Formats: sequence, C-alpha cells, structure tokens
Amino acid sequence: MADFVLPKNSKVKKGRHFAAKPGAKKVRTFQVYRWDPDTGENPRIDAFEVDVSNTPMVLDVLLKIKNEIDPTLTLRRSCREGICGSCAMNINGGNTLACTKALHDLPEGDVKIYPLPHMPVVKDLVPDLTHFYAQYASIKPWLRTQSAPPDRERLQSPEERKKLDGLYECILCACCSTSCPSYWWNPDRYLGPAVLLQAYRWIIDSRDEDTGARLDDLEDPFRLYRCHTIMNCTNTCPKGLNPAQAIGEIKQLMVKRAV
Ligand code: SF4
Ligand code: SF4
Ligand code: FES
Repeated sequence: MADFVLPKNSKVKKGRHFAAKPGAKKVRTFQVYRWDPDTGENPRIDAFEVDVSNTPMVLDVLLKIKNEIDPTLTLRRSCREGICGSCAMNINGGNTLACTKALHDLPEGDVKIYPLPHMPVVKDLVPDLTHFYAQYASIKPWLRTQSAPPDRERLQSPEERKKLDGLYECILCACCSTSCPSYWWNPDRYLGPAVLLQAYRWIIDSRDEDTGARLDDLEDPFRLYRCHTIMNCTNTCPKGLNPAQAIGEIKQLMVKRAV
C-alpha cells in the first residue's frame, strides 16, 4: 500500500509564545503560520496574545503584532478596505480578507491565521501568486475589437452594462481559486474560479468583439471543465460574488454555440 508522508521540512511545528503585555485589558490569542525560507527551518505556529481593545479587524491585529511584538511578521496589505485584494489569507479555516474580517464575527477562542491554502509560500502569510497572475494574463483580460475605433467611447445600453454587475467587482484576491478542490488538484491546467469569472466578464461585455476566440480558448477538458460545481468558490468570496454561476454561464454559451 502506498505510504503518504509529508517531507520532514514541511511539517508545521509549535513556535514561540508571546504573552500579553502587563495591563492588557481585552486579550485574544492569535496562532499565526510562520515560515522563513532563509532560515532553512520548518514552518511553525507562533502564538501571540494581543490586547484587542482598539483593533476591530484581523488586519489591525496583524499590524499591531508587526508594529509592537514581532516586526519580522510578513504579510501583504495595501488599501485596508477590501479593494486591493492583497490581504487575502485563511482565517479560522476560511479564505477571506483580513481587513474586512471583524474580530466580533469570529467565534470565541484562539484565532488561527494561515496563508491562502495550496499555494507556494514566499514567507509567513504571503503566498506566491505568480502562476495565478499568469493564468489571468492568459485570458487576455482587456477589450479586444476588430472594428475601426469610433470617434468617441464605445457605448453600452444600461441593460448591456448591467450584465457586468457581479463581475466587475472582482478584486482578484484569489480567495475563491485557493478554496476550490479542483484547483488544488490541477492548478497547472485548470484556470480556477477567479480567472474564469474574469473570462466571463469579457465574454459578456457587449463592446468586446472576440467572443468566439475567447470561448475557443476555454473549450478544453481542463481549463474550464474541471469545475464540478462544488461551490466552495461562491461560499468563500469576500465580495459576495458568484464565480460558480459565471462558470455555469460560460458552459451554457458553449452548449448554445454547439447546437
Ligand atoms: S471572485 Fe471573489 S474570491 Fe474570487 S478573486 Fe474575485 S473577489 Fe476574490
Ligand atoms: S464551483 Fe467549480 S470553481 Fe467553484 S469551487 Fe467548485 S469546482 Fe471550484
Ligand atoms: S488590504 Fe486591500 S483588500 Fe485588504
């Protein structure tokens, strides 16, 4: 029988414990994944006891840890208002944005914080999104036209514009793709929900004139059809979008053009 074991250097170990500062009023413990490729050591989970009196969001806590307890903690963030997508991580088992995840929405007890799952880790909470962005680039996410450029903007009716609702809001945080089992098992060949939602955003745009080529590009047993409608993607999207539905719409367009 096959014996599956993790390589020794990938086993996550117990790390350091940082006790709360004297006088801390409202203490919660945060268990945070740490890994530094420069040390050659295994990943570890550090426990930080933090006074959360003035830290409403998980991102506030992480920045407090970085500023006041351990400046080596590494994470991405920029906008701190759910717009840039860079603070995506796994909090208590769910992929979400640290800046919009309120502490009062998390159940009592320790809070566990890991990088987005099934991605290579650059350091601590920073996943390597190189491949994810390359897949995004592969769908050519810009307006593709063949007709001569008009003298003014390419117009849309309100109804045509409405078709982009629920799609244009995607911030490419990768929470959905990294929660998708099909993407875990075939990340090299399956595009995943985020990139497919973006592909649909251009397919359905009335101003785009390359719909046929866009569909041809997705007509592949892996790029599109590895979606098995498991719905993790839609359940986890911190922007409330529905990538599974967008994938279903692409599949319907494939059927329509075949009959
Ligand atoms: S669909 Fe949602 S979860 Fe997926 S990348 Fe876009 S915003 Fe993030
Ligand atoms: S619905 Fe499709 S894309 Fe979404 S999690 Fe399931 S398999 Fe992945
Ligand atoms: S910091 Fe920009 S989405 Fe969280």
